Amino acid sequence: MNVLSQEKISEIRNSINIVDVISSYIPLTPKGKNYFGVCPFHDDTNPSMSVSPSRQIYKCFSCGATGTVFKFIMDYENISFMEAVKKVADLGGIVVNIGKVHKKQTHPELHQIYDLSLKFYINNLNTAAGKEAREYLNNRNINEEVIKEFQIGLALKKDMLSKILTQKFKPTEVLKSGLIGKNDYGYYDLFYDRIMFPLYDLDGNPVAYSGRIYNRQDNSKYFNTRETEIFKKGELIYNYHRARDEARRKNQVIVMEGFMDVIRAYTIDVKNVIATMGTAVTDVQANLIKRMAKEIILCFDGDEAGAKATMACSNELLKIGVTPKVIRLENNLDPDEYIQKYGKDAFRKKIDNPISVMDFKLSYLKNGKDLNSSVDQAKYINELIVELNKIDDDILKDLTIKKVATEMNVDESLIRNHLEKKEVKPIRQSEPPSVTTKYEKAESGLIYYMLKSPEVITMYNNKVTYIPTKEYRQLAREISAFYKNFGFINEASFIDYIECDSELMETIGKINKNNTKETYTLEEIEDYINVIKDYNVKEEIKRLTNRMKNLTDPLDKAKIAEEIVGLKKGV
Ligand code: UTP
Ligand code: MN
Repeated sequence: MNVLSQEKISEIRNSINIVDVISSYIPLTPKGKNYFGVCPFHDDTNPSMSVSPSRQIYKCFSCGATGTVFKFIMDYENISFMEAVKKVADLGGIVVNIGKVHKKQTHPELHQIYDLSLKFYINNLNTAAGKEAREYLNNRNINEEVIKEFQIGLALKKDMLSKILTQKFKPTEVLKSGLIGKNDYGYYDLFYDRIMFPLYDLDGNPVAYSGRIYNRQDNSKYFNTRETEIFKKGELIYNYHRARDEARRKNQVIVMEGFMDVIRAYTIDVKNVIATMGTAVTDVQANLIKRMAKEIILCFDGDEAGAKATMACSNELLKIGVTPKVIRLENNLDPDEYIQKYGKDAFRKKIDNPISVMDFKLSYLKNGKDLNSSVDQAKYINELIVELNKIDDDILKDLTIKKVATEMNVDESLIRNHLEKKEVKPIRQSEPPSVTTKYEKAESGLIYYMLKSPEVITMYNNKVTYIPTKEYRQLAREISAFYKNFGFINEASFIDYIECDSELMETIGKINKNNTKETYTLEEIEDYINVIKDYNVKEEIKRLTNRMKNLTDPLDKAKIAEEIVGLKKGV
């Protein structure tokens, strides 16, 4: 339930300008009455998103995303409607008392299990049995403060977690957590003798662990929780929730491989860092990273595997139009080791002087080649062309071509002729328009103007008995109810009133995509209504004809036939 009144929400929305807020997330350029930017809600490089200061609404012509400032923040930051309202209130200097707002959790019991296990592991580290683990952390220069911040804990031998959890929670849920196993003898802990690093979801809830060995030999240095209903490896990023604000402030995010690297960076006050955790970066993760900041710096391990991971990650980012920068660390060091060996200033210097992704690729491709041999030279240039085709950044592309042409003593045109001709992407031509029939067009047109004008709502109330398509019908009813309640209509207020309900928003997106004209004539509205009526009559005739087929009594049949004739006259 909404704890704030509609008036308060409008006051909050009006306390800021949507253009200012959205431009703190994505660059906007003025054009006519509106502002344009690259839509962050789908893969794009064209400025398909328009932000209207007069309507206080944004709208993407390509993917259909639309809404008020709240909806934008909700989707961009992955937060609830109320959390977004709170953020905007803070920006506008309006005090609201809605307490701590929680995102709806889909698996409350699993989350409770994780909250409890976290307390349990943290406590273990502070017991006498945790001495060796504390020494290990101490030797690695991980102090109390860091242990606290990253909620580092400990799973001991013959642990009791399974007992505690099965006493408190349903055994089925406990088994779902990925922390506990079951055999003929009962429940047992899956983690033991490991230092426990909690992994968090995007909101900062602990949802898994990575447990590191510290006092024994084992095949795996880290043992991770398997995937569960609340932990999908490819969808989360280590330290996302802590790094998000700092990354936005600096407009820069540093991507590392391991969470130990992130923790180390924190100790030298570099806080806009996240980790991919040693696996190939998925498209979901790449899109999350893209949204964090404009400047993305990959700082993977200095070894060969790290270079390979840098290639893979940068390609995943290039696919979605992001051109990252790269830091390479000498002597095969990882960031953790590098910072400890060379110190804070040396590492900061690295961050301040990243190389371009193409410079990184040039040296990567040179590896293992003898550039005095023409065979390897040709191979090098061919591989380079493949990489050049992946980048959108024309300037970087041009600089790289010049560099390589000079270096290899070939003509620039030789390389240029091999590049794919860049198609100028028109705004999503391939996507078929979502409105197809003339009936849908009428429905969508009518509702588009209902959102703008009380006059049209009144016409709808008086003349339309039934809107055929379910999604449009629901939306029209909501608009009409809003108007009845509040006595005015305004698209932004309406959207906030429905709390950006995702189904209704999708329909509004569709409608906005297919209607762009600001003004209407009464004839147009009458037209829409007539088309809808016509559709209803045709449906009714269809229904009656079917019913007639099943009747045997000639009198009943005649009655219905008469009804049909009556309807047909009206058409
Ligand atoms: P690294 O091997 O680079 O870990 O793996 P690290 O950060 O240097 O760790 P320390 O310094 O040895 O403690 C990078 C990431 O790969 C995952 C972990 O998420 C780690 O942060 N990994 C690594 C595993 O999941 N299992 C392993 O056995 C090793
Ligand atoms: Mn390491």
